[in-house]
Amino acid sequence: MKEEITMNLSIDGVEVYVEDKGIKGKGLPVVLLHGFPLDHHMWRNQVSALEQSYRVITPDLQGMGQSGVPLDNRSMEHYADDVLAVLDHLQIDRVVLGGFSMGGYVAFSLLRKAPERIAAVILSNTRADADTTEGKKNRMSMASALFDKGSIAAKEAMLPKLLTEQSLKENEALAEQLSKAMLGMNPEGLVHACLAMAFRKDSSKLLTSIKVPTLVIAGERDVIATPEIMNKMAEQIPGALYEEIPGAAHLAPMENPEAYNRVLLDFLQKLH
Ligand code: MLT
Repeated sequence: MKEEITMNLSIDGVEVYVEDKGIKGKGLPVVLLHGFPLDHHMWRNQVSALEQSYRVITPDLQGMGQSGVPLDNRSMEHYADDVLAVLDHLQIDRVVLGGFSMGGYVAFSLLRKAPERIAAVILSNTRADADTTEGKKNRMSMASALFDKGSIAAKEAMLPKLLTEQSLKENEALAEQLSKAMLGMNPEGLVHACLAMAFRKDSSKLLTSIKVPTLVIAGERDVIATPEIMNKMAEQIPGALYEEIPGAAHLAPMENPEAYNRVLLDFLQKLH
């Protein structure tokens, strides 16, 4: 039977919000990790497509969405520990793990930390390399702007990259929802994410050692994790499937959910 549970878990003294939906006890649960500066809502089209057949778990990473703001410095390893704490709490051994962009950086950390918990991986609009010095400096400028101007700084920088120009013009409802979500974020929570992304490990060397079925999904017009970067990444993961979502920029799961869900469901059906 389809169930829907929302919960706040206290992890290291901070509330972590988690949605746990769909069919329990049938096949592997699917965990989907969101990007920056977003939350579990970015997966809503995928959750509605999957919940008829799968259990789908979508946490809000600390500092974003309905989760609390971290009490001290965060690294990708800390966000990964939170995901493991959620799985332990739910008594789930193994999952299909999906990570979008920053969620992908967390997925790389989980692949290093607890590969035995991961039965298959979906790497969406993400990249394995670390930030360059220039990239790190941009994160510092973003962190500073977040303190000065609030979460509007993240919205102004990210919205034009999340969607294509066409969607920004023609899908006003989506642009509006995203703006509202980003403006509602706690600026300090986003600063933690910026610093964690700036100093994340380079995961390039991990790619050849991934031993589970992997789906790599790129957005045809993504300028953050370009199709070229993602295709090269897929080529290094043994047996990985590479798919490109047409007409989508960075936020492919929301910009072209029909195409995205087809690719996702096809991958999951073959796994099960
Ligand atoms: C994201 O969507 O999570 C961010 O664009 C990732 C990044 O800035 O590296």
